[in-house]
Amino acid sequence: MSSDTGSTPGTSPSGNPASRPRIFSGIQPSGVPTLGNYLGALRNWVRLQEGHECIFSIVDLHAITVWQEPERLRTQTLEMAASLLACGIDAERHILFHQSAVRAHAQLAWIFNCVARIGWLNRMTQFKDKAGKDREAASAGLYVYPNLMAADILAYHATRVPVGDDQRQHLELANDIAQKFNHDYGVDFFPLIEPIIEGPAARVMSLRDGTKKMSKSDPSDQSRINLTDPPDVIALKIRRAKTDPEPLPSEPGGLEGRPEARNLVGIYAALAEIPVAAVLAQYGGQGFAAFKEALAELLITHLGPIAAETRRILADPAALIALLQRGAERAAAIADPIVAEAERIVGFLPGRAGLPGRPG
Ligand code: TYM
Repeated sequence: MSSDTGSTPGTSPSGNPASRPRIFSGIQPSGVPTLGNYLGALRNWVRLQEGHECIFSIVDLHAITVWQEPERLRTQTLEMAASLLACGIDAERHILFHQSAVRAHAQLAWIFNCVARIGWLNRMTQFKDKAGKDREAASAGLYVYPNLMAADILAYHATRVPVGDDQRQHLELANDIAQKFNHDYGVDFFPLIEPIIEGPAARVMSLRDGTKKMSKSDPSDQSRINLTDPPDVIALKIRRAKTDPEPLPSEPGGLEGRPEARNLVGIYAALAEIPVAAVLAQYGGQGFAAFKEALAELLITHLGPIAAETRRILADPAALIALLQRGAERAAAIADPIVAEAERIVGFLPGRAGLPGRPG
């Protein structure tokens, strides 16, 4: 089986020549997607659809590593699907599905729980951040979260993974797991993964604190721009965004030690698709007022159509559920034979009891 291209003969979804590199990426349905998700990941997902075979997952198994209200989780999964489609994910040419619907993820994650070392997981900074001070009270799922991530990608032999900067360490761990599996079992089965972390907004920071990541699960709604925020809310959040008393610098070097200014300028540059230096050439030497007004305008122009399209798609939840279900079937058709082979490699006998469908 070829592992350098990530393609698996006979398992490519119809219409996607197996020669195109395979991409996998995921997003948790733990809230409405933010500007950070959009600039750090989703916009790249949309672009990479050209020239790649893409598999995108709404990772509900990952979401429940911290408490989620069941009814809210269902709603947020649908809202996330609508947002992704509104951003431009093409669920016909590529695959979009909810992770829990494809059993292969959890099956391979268990094998990876037995491959990854506790010492590796102990080094994960995101676990430390998310578990906070009371690590004993964190779920075991939160601890092994990166193993499930490795399974998500490797169950498809995907080789390229577009993510924001915060996922870099998890992808390094996925490569460690793939290598240890191959080494321990004497196979060349799992390919190496190449992270795709791009652009001036690979790490968008909170609007209230330029040293903290913008996050959909931050308790303060003022800390982030949600992709569904109406124009007046976007304008207000930007007007209130934390800054410092100095005027904007004229050169990128002048952003050093000014995390809030750097963040807002980085967002502007990413949205306008111009270099940071070009933003500063225009606004350097001025206070933040005019710049913030222009930034709010840019955001509203960009996000307004996405919010409207999200609402339109959400008006037909049955169609959305059917779309995810079709995506899950196509995803399982790729992942099942790969995970079955991994199970054979580790020494499991063949055979599987029938799985009843989940009640609707
Ligand atoms: P999640 O749901 O936190 O975020 C989804 C994507 O958005 C990126 N991102 C950001 N980028 C820039 N600035 C920010 N402030 C920001 N916040 C989030 C994330 O890097 C991510 O790319 N563990 C993943 C989901 C996942 C996954 C996977 C990703 C599960 N399995 C397999 C890739 C491959 C996560 O929690 O993403």
